[in-house]
Amino acid sequence: MKDPRLSVIEKRLKNIGKIIAVSGGKGGIGKSVTSSLLSLALSKKGYNVGLLDLDLTSPSDHVVLGIKDVAPTEKEGIIPPTVNGVQFMSVVFYTNENPTPLRGEEVSNAIKEILCITRWNNLDFLIIDMPPGIGDELFDTIELFQGAEFLLLSTSSKIVFETVKKLLLLLQELNVPILGIVENMKHYDNGYIKNMCKKHHAPFLGEIWFDKNFENAVGNINKIMDTQLFKDIDGVAENIV
Ligand SMILES: Nc1ncnc2c1ncn2[C@@H]1O[C@H](COP(=O)(O)OP(=O)(O)OP(=O)(O)O)[C@@H](O)[C@H]1O
Ligand SMILES: [Mg+2]
Repeated sequence: MKDPRLSVIEKRLKNIGKIIAVSGGKGGIGKSVTSSLLSLALSKKGYNVGLLDLDLTSPSDHVVLGIKDVAPTEKEGIIPPTVNGVQFMSVVFYTNENPTPLRGEEVSNAIKEILCITRWNNLDFLIIDMPPGIGDELFDTIELFQGAEFLLLSTSSKIVFETVKKLLLLLQELNVPILGIVENMKHYDNGYIKNMCKKHHAPFLGEIWFDKNFENAVGNINKIMDTQLFKDIDGVAENIV
């Protein structure tokens, strides 16, 4: 029998303009920072934006954006709080600072539950912050968010791109839409990622330079919007809209 949650999820996601899954396969390459700041940048441009932190074991968008003392409200589902213009949903609202050790089917179930209960309001963009790895969450995202486009992050490193390439090839093989690749934490210009984009027929969406001042801005929206990192991500947003 078909899981009845699937038709609820389809209904919940039906009217969203564009769903962007920020991934890359690798850990620690800036997926959470990029997802969070991209949501902010799109919202500042006047779009209705949602941000979904899909990293169930290590959610961090609330840390990046300094979101605290807010909670979803309940009305025929869960309405995510709007913070700095962005509708924000994360497992952290339910787990707080406790660990969330999930495996296999439990991960899929948690994702389905979140998607079933969350009522997004009239979104132009839903940005999904993906966990690292090419595993359960990736396959659930492909299955549950029909039509979601993948934005892949890579650093300038050949070692990092080796994993990003695996994800790229997999998505291409599965005919999953690929929005393009963003080069993050750039600190020198070797043209490697641009060349790889050409070679693998993926759009190059822009570059984000390593910003040594970013750590000092984490958790503070006003400081974040003054950083070079935010300006670089705003440039990426320009290439997406
Ligand atoms: N362009 C940048 N300049 C400076 N610091 C950055 C940049 N991009 C990311 N960082 C920093 O790198 C670290 C990792 O970033 P982030 O948590 O966004 O990566 P991630 O890919 O989401 O990691 P995970 O795989 O664990 O989810 C953080 O400390 C973040 O502030
Ligand atoms: Mg992350």
